This record gives sequence, structure tokens and C-alpha cells, in this order.
Amino acid sequence: MLFDFATIPPKERYKLLISTIVPRPIAWIVSQNPEGRLNAAPFSFFNAFAGDPPVVGIGIGSHEPGRLKDTRRNIRDTGQFVVNLVSEDIAEAMNITAIEFEAEADEISESGLTTIPSVRVKPPRIAESPVSMECELMQIVELGPDNGLVLGRVVMMHVPDDAVIDAQKHYIDTPKLKLIARMHGRGWYARCSDLFLMPRLTLAEWKEKQAAAVAPGTDGSKRGG
Ligand SMILES: Cc1cc2nc3c(=O)[nH]c(=O)nc-3n(C[C@H](O)[C@H](O)[C@H](O)COP(=O)(O)O)c2cc1C
Repeated sequence: MLFDFATIPPKERYKLLISTIVPRPIAWIVSQNPEGRLNAAPFSFFNAFAGDPPVVGIGIGSHEPGRLKDTRRNIRDTGQFVVNLVSEDIAEAMNITAIEFEAEADEISESGLTTIPSVRVKPPRIAESPVSMECELMQIVELGPDNGLVLGRVVMMHVPDDAVIDAQKHYIDTPKLKLIARMHGRGWYARCSDLFLMPRLTLAEWKEKQAAAVAPGTDGSKRGG
């Protein structure tokens, strides 16, 4: 079937995107308003976009036309935030922080979570989260009247000691983190446990593979059968 995005209403385009671009990692963002009021909310329009500088990006919408989500307003006003990643055991707490609470609500205590002060930025990190990235705002790319792409530079990352295989080489035991990701629809998630290994090939390895596939004594053309 062919879906022409020029003729589909925004809500339907959104459905097509989120049910095919999967799995999406979840940035569970802690931010603060200029008075220091804490806020936490999950966002799955999220990924890493560069290693140097170390950049993460998060697509944040509005609650309704003209009313920015608190996370985006806080990041715009303070320039700092923490991206926490979500593991299976804290999935339900994450889901509670996605409730569209009033701006003055404290989603963190509402969901029974605790925080730990950050090292370089003012907003704290979520203690129960296996990975937290302290971020400074680089830029907000306005994508339309009610959507913005927040680009942040990661200045500090927290990972539990027992999930670090080699601290010098920065090897992390990723499966041990038991991270979850957002799938299609309103409530589907994925575990990162159905893995397969496929080492990347060099050009020399690829040529070797191709040469080996051609039976000796033939002209190299493919045989039928
Ligand atoms: C798993 C998950 C992923 C979400 N991803 C996004 C997203 O990428 N962008 C967005 O604007 N809202 C997203 N939401 C909805 C926000 O979390 C929700 O609107 C939240 O109340 C915003 O809170 P805030 O106003 O405190 O920032 C997501 C919700 C869930 C449960």
C-alpha cells in the first residue's frame, strides 16, 4: 500500500511513523524550571546523533497547540537536563511519569522514584535508572509550531560498576542493563534480549567471500538451480 503523506492528517502520519520506526530507545528526562521545580517524562523520539561532539536528540511535542510540554520549556529556560535510560524493572514507574500531570506536579515522587544529585548539571538523575546522561542544551530546532528537536551535549554518563566490563576501554555489558524500548501503538515495548551477532566486514573480507563463492574453473557467472 502506498501512503502519501501530503494527503494524510498529522495524527495518521504519526501512527505510520511510530508503528514502523521501531524499536525506539526511551529518554526519561529529568529537568527543572528556573525556580528548581523537578519534572520527569519519557520520550521515544530519541537517539544519539554524534560521538564528537557527543550529541543526543529528543523530539518533544506540545500538550496542545501552543502549550509546550514542561520538559521542553524547562530545557529552553535552563539549558540543562538529564537523560535516564529505562530498564525492565522500572518500566511501570516510567509509565506513571508519562501521565499528563499539571505543571506543578512532581512526577518523580508520584511514581515512587528517588533522585541523586548530578555532577555537572543542576537537574538530578533518577537513582533507579541504570544509565544517566547529564546534558547541556546545544540547540532546539523548531520543527513546526508544536514540535521541537532538542539537541543536547552529553557531559557526564553514569553506569553501574557491575555493568562496566573494562573501564579503561569503556566496554559496557549492554545486555546486563536490561534496557527496554518503545514499539508500536500506545502500549507496546520491547526487551533487548533477542540478539544476533553479525560482525562488520572489511572490503578485503567481502572480496574474499565473493571469490570463495565462485566455484573454481567457472567464469564466475551464477548457476541456476
Ligand atoms: C514511552 C513513551 C514515549 C513517549 N515519547 C514521547 C516523545 O517522543 N515525544 C513527546 O512529545 N511525548 C512523548 N511521550 C509523552 C510524554 O511523556 C507526555 O506527554 C508527558 O506528560 C510530557 O510531560 P511534561 O509536560 O512533564 O514534559 C511519550 C510517552 C511514553 C509513555
